[in-house]
Amino acid sequence: MKKKAKDKVRVGIVGSKFAADFHADSYRRNPKVEIAAVAAIDNLEEFSRKWSVPAAYSDYNEMLRKEELDLVSVCVPNFLHRDVAVAAARAGRHVMCEKPLATTAEHAREIVETCRKEGVKLFYGEDWVFAPALRRTVEIIREGGVGQVFYVKARECHSGSHSPFAKSKQSCGGGSLIHLAIHPVGWILHLLGEEGENPVVEVIGRCNGGAGENYVHKDNGGEDFALGIMKFANGQHAFVEGNYITVGGMDDRVEIYGAQGNIKVDLTFGSCLSVYSRPGYAYAIEKTDNTVGWTRPAVDEFHNLGYVDELARAVDCVLAGEQPAYSCGGRLGLACVEIISAMYRSSESGCAVKGRWG
Ligand SMILES: NC(=O)c1ccc[n+]([C@@H]2O[C@H](COP(=O)([O-])OP(=O)(O)OC[C@H]3O[C@@H](n4cnc5c(N)ncnc54)[C@H](O)[C@@H]3O)[C@@H](O)[C@H]2O)c1
Repeated sequence: MKKKAKDKVRVGIVGSKFAADFHADSYRRNPKVEIAAVAAIDNLEEFSRKWSVPAAYSDYNEMLRKEELDLVSVCVPNFLHRDVAVAAARAGRHVMCEKPLATTAEHAREIVETCRKEGVKLFYGEDWVFAPALRRTVEIIREGGVGQVFYVKARECHSGSHSPFAKSKQSCGGGSLIHLAIHPVGWILHLLGEEGENPVVEVIGRCNGGAGENYVHKDNGGEDFALGIMKFANGQHAFVEGNYITVGGMDDRVEIYGAQGNIKVDLTFGSCLSVYSRPGYAYAIEKTDNTVGWTRPAVDEFHNLGYVDELARAVDCVLAGEQPAYSCGGRLGLACVEIISAMYRSSESGCAVKGRWG
């Protein structure tokens, strides 16, 4: 008898807080997913109840041993991505890894290499790639709507991470450059990099020094202010920003400058809702601390930011037995970490760093 094709993907989530929550929300919307288990060191009861997850583990290795999973979502602090992704791959599970792929290029390479060796798919979670407004931007550019693109400027900035792990340089792998600016770096590589045919050949980085040398967050080991420049092989330039000194809500913006037009994207404040409220209300957008007066609340933030479609794409690839495209695969994740690492070296030395990344 012919074996029936699988119609559901059994997912295990490692992590139980912020990122795990938007993974669970995105999977819950998807009828092709069964969230089978969660593993984390805290918040297990609340998370399991909220998302009706039948099995919870305080040790992800035990989850990998006991549960028959197809896909593992890696939603733990950055420094653990390597350990969890490698363990999942060795257990024969496909891997969906949050950004950054790892805290060092060496660890990122180990993840890519292990997944390749074990024959499992590696999905890299750059949600900007799937954000509807940025997908539309790419479509308009690809059809020639702004002519040849010369310059892209993009930022993800807010007032500071909710996660204690993001505040420690060691567990984060740095500060706002690796934690926030990695989004524009990844998306711009997807837009301009031609899947490695148009690699980044030179970068410049500028970060403040962390801790006492930070502008605002003296208790953060990593920098709270970072700028980066990328030069592509064909001469295009990009300028990226990631900082924790931006108050008022998460500010994700992109500007594209082409020979025959330009595009401006406001991913987080560009809601079609304008609300004036005297008493305020519960929630407007990520990292806002105020909902009084005029605000622009997100309509469906997880969808707008790309998470829902990013995870749906991974599920479809698993069901169809397809490899992830460049824009959501390990190669992009590795290139992002390599570029960020080169920007850190540039910031330390004060010199541009040349290479070939893409
Ligand atoms: N794509 C995005 O926009 C986006 C947004 C937020 C976070 N992230 C990424 O998601 C990851 C998690 O960030 P977060 O904000 O959810 O952090 P968080 O601090 O809110 O949660 C960390 C989670 O990791 C779990 N954890 C810690 N050590 C563990 C261990 N040894 N074994 C199992 N679980 C362990 C904790 O129990 C907790 O549930 C980070 O890599 C971050 O960069 C991505």
